[in-house]
Amino acid sequence: MHKIHIADKEFEILLDNDNISKRIRLIGIQMNVDYESRCPVFIGVLNGSFLFMADLIREIEIPCEIGFIRVSSYEGTESSGAIKQAFGLPENLHNRDVIIVEDIVDTGFTLTHILKEVQKQQPASVKVCTLLFKPTALKAEIEELEYVGFEIGNEFVVGYGLDYDGLGRNLKDIYRAKM
Ligand code: XMP
Ligand code: MG
Repeated sequence: MHKIHIADKEFEILLDNDNISKRIRLIGIQMNVDYESRCPVFIGVLNGSFLFMADLIREIEIPCEIGFIRVSSYEGTESSGAIKQAFGLPENLHNRDVIIVEDIVDTGFTLTHILKEVQKQQPASVKVCTLLFKPTALKAEIEELEYVGFEIGNEFVVGYGLDYDGLGRNLKDIYRAKM
């Protein structure tokens, strides 16, 4: 199915599940090398990263821990990049190797806030793994962006964990909004 409708919008396929799976397998192989004998802590950002985390973590063959956080913006200021709050951040990250797992990095403001919170615990290292990255939308500098599944254009995407108005997270493939 190459075209779908969600609510009032039409979407067309951008990345199919086979393509996504192959890319995730490669990221996993790289992480198994990079984190050999280090027992990293994976922290997924809910809700969007739940499928990506589930698939990525099954490619990881070294000992590791897994947690999730939820980020909310105060007073609907999300797109302006204003203050956000992170809930559920593990409290034992001191001297640990942390990998933040995101569905998508857009402006980068969400990650900037999460990274600041994580750094307060003085982890041994922090890296970011995102399935999707919109380089032309980035407004914050993120040195920790180490693993990127796919670079995409500045377009709205849905599926494989990502939603449009709460819908579409269950789709196996990733779609982009038609102009
Ligand atoms: P920032 O701008 O802080 O945004 O990097 C990251 C968060 O915004 C959401 N986001 C999207 N969600 N399709 C979505 O379904 C998109 O194209 C999109 N762009 C950004 C997402 O929650 C991400 O974590
Ligand atoms: Mg998100």
